[in-house]
Amino acid sequence: MTPNAPSRTSSLLLMIAGAKGAIGSTLAVAAEVLHENPAPILSSMTTAHQFPWLGPPEKICVAGWDLSHESMARSAEVQGVLPPHILSACADRLAFLPVIHPPALPDLESQTARLMEDIAVFRDAHPGAAPVLVNLLPSGRQPDPEDCKGVEGLRRAYHPDTCPDLAYGLAAVRSGVPVVNFTPNIIETDAIVEEAVAHGVPLSGRDGKTGQTYFKVVLASALKARSLFVDGWYSLNILGNADGRNLMDPDRARGKLSNKTQLLDDILGYPVGERYGVSAHKVHIDYYPPRGDAKEAWDVIDFEGMFGMPMSLRLNLQGRDSILAAPMVLDLARWMATLKLAGRSGLVPELGFFYKKPMGDHPPIAFQDQLQALAALGRACETAIGHQPDVKETP
Ligand SMILES: NC(=O)c1ccc[n+]([C@@H]2O[C@H](COP(=O)([O-])OP(=O)(O)OC[C@H]3O[C@@H](n4cnc5c(N)ncnc54)[C@H](O)[C@@H]3O)[C@@H](O)[C@H]2O)c1
Repeated sequence: MTPNAPSRTSSLLLMIAGAKGAIGSTLAVAAEVLHENPAPILSSMTTAHQFPWLGPPEKICVAGWDLSHESMARSAEVQGVLPPHILSACADRLAFLPVIHPPALPDLESQTARLMEDIAVFRDAHPGAAPVLVNLLPSGRQPDPEDCKGVEGLRRAYHPDTCPDLAYGLAAVRSGVPVVNFTPNIIETDAIVEEAVAHGVPLSGRDGKTGQTYFKVVLASALKARSLFVDGWYSLNILGNADGRNLMDPDRARGKLSNKTQLLDDILGYPVGERYGVSAHKVHIDYYPPRGDAKEAWDVIDFEGMFGMPMSLRLNLQGRDSILAAPMVLDLARWMATLKLAGRSGLVPELGFFYKKPMGDHPPIAFQDQLQALAALGRACETAIGHQPDVKETP
């Protein structure tokens, strides 16, 4: 492991699986910049003024795992997410971030035990910081959820190449560390959720709702609220980062496409395209290298008003995948640390605002319900933490 940088006090420890990827390296840079010049990052977070019990939101440190042997500074440069002047300002400190090349043991229990040792080392290096594991591994070919049932199913489903996520999730839960599953991959099997409850650990996921799907939820909720009938919705994405390349594999893309598709019918309360006998909600993702992380998405929405008169709406998003994702991960990590402090364990469907496929029972579906659920969750945490005599606000 890399030697420690001159010490800094941190309130939150992000342990990232996939720390040198596009989002992971952006987070590493953001965590460094936060210590020196927090304004541009805090202003893009939604929790910067919440959760005083976690201490200053700018005191965040990063550790993690990645298969890449590149340095963190070089990884961030290659991802092409951030301009050189931002990278050069923190390149020296990035070299000190402890990022471990993970083991790839063939059985789940041994792999989990090794990752738990790493987690203990990361935590020892940052005493007092609230730990959260963030899953940012590439989207993988997923096992059938039915095959992951029970402890035996979980062990059989695990493979170090195709489902490494399961071992990271289990290691975190057994270490008492909350989990953010930002990927479309399965972590929330019944056995892992049971262990989370037994260890008093909250677990949230799945699949961060960063760009096109975020606006889809907003627009679909608005159309539904006005009784405007959606006849069809065509969504196209181009992106040129490693995630986009990965999603060219139909097996790897299946989970992501299903997460991007299902929620529309759920919000509207009817299957779009029912009258045609086929779904008229189409979602395509194309790998287009020239764009790198700067993804572009188009939506064509056909809808009807009174007398069935047809109308249509075009949306063109020119986004930046990791710039949208990184502050959401920071917010989610702060939510998870707060939920742990509030005594919450197991799945947290109330965080549906952040996810394409919120896991847990009865997640809020429409945008306004997601905002309300989030506000109610914040109030519940405040009450629970306020009743704990030993939790004090950190100045
Ligand atoms: N960017 C977004 O807007 C967005 C939105 C929703 C979900 N996601 C999901 O977030 C995840 C991360 O996205 P990204 O763009 O950073 O991906 P990425 O491919 O750039 O990064 C993944 C990293 O994981 C590393 N890795 C692979 N296997 C590993 C293992 N076994 N252990 C440790 N590290 C390993 C890779 O070397 C790579 O550095 C993906 O699953 C993506 O689908 C991204």
